[in-house]
Amino acid sequence: MRSIELRGGTKMPALGLGTWKSAPGEVGAAVREALRIGYRHIDCAAIYGNEAEIGAALADAFSAGVVKREELWITSKLWCNAHATEDVIPALKKSLGALRLDYLDLYLVHWPIAVRRDAVGVKQASDFVPESELTLLDTWRGMEAAHTAGLARAIGVSNHSAKKLAALARDASVQPEVNQVELHPYLQQNALLTYCREHGIAVTGYSPLGSQDRPAGMHKSDEPILLEDPVIAELSAHHGASPAQMLIAWQLQQGLSVIPKSVNPARLRENFYAHQVELDPDELEAIAAINLDRRYVTGDFWAIPGGPHTLATLWDE
Ligand code: A2P
Repeated sequence: MRSIELRGGTKMPALGLGTWKSAPGEVGAAVREALRIGYRHIDCAAIYGNEAEIGAALADAFSAGVVKREELWITSKLWCNAHATEDVIPALKKSLGALRLDYLDLYLVHWPIAVRRDAVGVKQASDFVPESELTLLDTWRGMEAAHTAGLARAIGVSNHSAKKLAALARDASVQPEVNQVELHPYLQQNALLTYCREHGIAVTGYSPLGSQDRPAGMHKSDEPILLEDPVIAELSAHHGASPAQMLIAWQLQQGLSVIPKSVNPARLRENFYAHQVELDPDELEAIAAINLDRRYVTGDFWAIPGGPHTLATLWDE
């Protein structure tokens, strides 16, 4: 299994199990099965509402001798209502408690967006904390403190543009090691990847299969279905691999980390063995040509009328 060495020297297994949208009641079995198959990287977040069940599955796997803690890579993410410097460590400790762990391998700032402590999602403009009250650097100071305290071996961000990374880099004492962003052939993120490569930031791609199981409100009626793309279909037929395997192999071959989500044992296995697919330069070129710069996770839920964020300020595009 490929791994990616982060600037701080830790090694992140390139393939991880995504757990966004993995429902309580399903996610525990999926994690147990994934660990049996050989997954060694689990991507979690407080907002997914399933960390306690993942924690129980991890505890079972440790006590059954399936895997040792130090063989695993566990990521979690800070939700937007705990962005105040002093709220970061308590939020991280809450995730650790649910996951039944002493430390995380990676802790990420989930979004470059701060909301009030009592507002989990946002319903109105007043639910946001404006940049004049709380900056991304304030949040990063809390992340640095968590890292110094040994609660997270590596720290990073998610959903951050190159512009926001550059602003953070100017004042950070500990540089972000990872940026986790939506990435797949319809959203190839080439400019952001170039920035991250130049600055020693590893990239993890989320929604690599197009996240068709997103909540209904996040679907657009005209959206193309990545797993049904004709170029991907042709390449998979040629390789005798599934479309999902082609999509995962494409990310791994670019030196990226990738976190496909599944709660289905057969698909967990299929996704795990995607690393056996090797794309040649012509095939990589064919996939490069299907880029649409199209997000499935548009972030439009943050663009509330009268609020401080628009899609342009969120993505800096
Ligand atoms: P399931 O969990 O039932 O397997 P993403 O990782 O982009 O968020 O996509 C997750 C979606 O893709 C889920 O609906 C998941 O369903 C489905 N999925 C996961 N693996 C595969 C696969 N190998 N083939 C087809 N669909 C898959």
